[in-house]
Amino acid sequence: MARILIVDDEAKLARLLGQMLEGHGHDVERAEGCRTALERIEAGRWDVVVTDLRMPDGDGMAVVRAARRTPSTEVVVMTAFASAETAVEAMREGAADYLIKPFAMDEFRIRIRRLVDKRDLEGRNRDLQARLAGGAAFEGVVARSPRMREVIDQVQQVAHTEATVLLLGPSGTGKTLLARAIHHHSRRSDGPLVEVHCAALPEGLLESELFGHEKGSFTGAVETKRGQVELAAKGTLFLDEIGELQPAIQVKLLRFLQDREFVRVGGGAARKVDVRLVAATNRDLEAAVREGTFREDFFYRLNVFPIHVPPLSERAEDIPELAALAVTRAGGDPARLTPSVVELLARHRWPGNVRELENVIQRALILAGAGPVREEHLPRSIVEGAAAVTPAMLLRPGFSLDQLERDVIHQALAQADGNKAEAARLLGITRRRLYSRLKSMEADSDEGETSE
Ligand SMILES: Nc1ncnc2c1ncn2[C@@H]1O[C@H](COP(=O)(O)OP(=O)(O)O)[C@@H](O)[C@H]1O
Ligand SMILES: [Mg+2]
Repeated sequence: MARILIVDDEAKLARLLGQMLEGHGHDVERAEGCRTALERIEAGRWDVVVTDLRMPDGDGMAVVRAARRTPSTEVVVMTAFASAETAVEAMREGAADYLIKPFAMDEFRIRIRRLVDKRDLEGRNRDLQARLAGGAAFEGVVARSPRMREVIDQVQQVAHTEATVLLLGPSGTGKTLLARAIHHHSRRSDGPLVEVHCAALPEGLLESELFGHEKGSFTGAVETKRGQVELAAKGTLFLDEIGELQPAIQVKLLRFLQDREFVRVGGGAARKVDVRLVAATNRDLEAAVREGTFREDFFYRLNVFPIHVPPLSERAEDIPELAALAVTRAGGDPARLTPSVVELLARHRWPGNVRELENVIQRALILAGAGPVREEHLPRSIVEGAAAVTPAMLLRPGFSLDQLERDVIHQALAQADGNKAEAARLLGITRRRLYSRLKSMEADSDEGETSE
């Protein structure tokens, strides 16, 4: 079953095609012109768009382009003019197939079926590939970007070992999510996962929270209480925000890390417990060591298997899927995200990372009510940030893409003080690609000189 949009100003033909496809179990809508079609495409997600090329209120080519902005949407064009040229142009814009009017109903049915089958097959292949690549092993963790794939690889390598894992990265990048994934994919997954937020408690209370206390060891200690460390026995202890720990507690945890031994507050015997440790922080621990606020010996004990979780701005490929996931988590239908909204989200820098993205989505869903999420439901900063330069603003008389490229590359080199690696990073391309661009720019200017 596919969601199919039929666009034709000939209402009778559109109805006929629609009924036939509905008869084959598809979900069909019709648009009687270019403008309505563009609205429908903007408002929802389509598997297939079938469009006429000549319509009184506009060019069907605009419909092709709008539909193809969502790469998973396939487009079939119909044209009454047996001109190969328009069909070729439509294919160049990404249409998958074309039909010359008049055509037989059967021909139409077969072409659509072929396309839907191809989509299903591709979808299944993608699922399979994701599973093979470990995607399905980490349900609920989006990792399309190369940077995030690397992180997942590391998580997979270390999860089933007993090694201490240190997750490093800015707030909201998914460290807590990954810590939980590590536990759930470890041999200890049947045991408890105990999370301790190190920044949440004052130093005095933290020690008894972690290691427990004996009855009467301090005012208010009316009962003997087991600490989180003991509660995590046979499981995983996750110490979040470990960079916030005071040195006195660091010493006690260091001892615990060395031989898994601890003493409850108020004395008593040293106890041993079988616990695997995962820690996370958004602080630069090496800098903290240099500044003397973090113990060096404790740092080395923690830094057995560090995993650097990159900021969202370095994994823009993940944004569309993260946005869709955030909508699903809020109980909504991801199809409510219009393509232009997804594009704006993908261009934003996200200083607050995935958490900020989730907050923006939740707010937008509320503002959008039951309808599709549009540009006006996003915070102004996101829309305006993206609007700073639009392609339309560049396309003025005298515009040259080559010149623009040269200008941008020169600007990046200047900003990077001539450091090519840094310039490539600014440009969002590989160093190799930058070298090859520079080479061809040089060749171009040589040519210009000899011909003068
Ligand atoms: N790769 C990801 N895939 C899916 N959701 C993610 C991903 N990274 C982060 N999130 C979500 O973003 C939010 C913030 O993540 P969290 O793990 O709390 O970040 P941190 O611990 O680094 O501050 C959570 O709701 C989390 O589920
Ligand atoms: Mg966290």
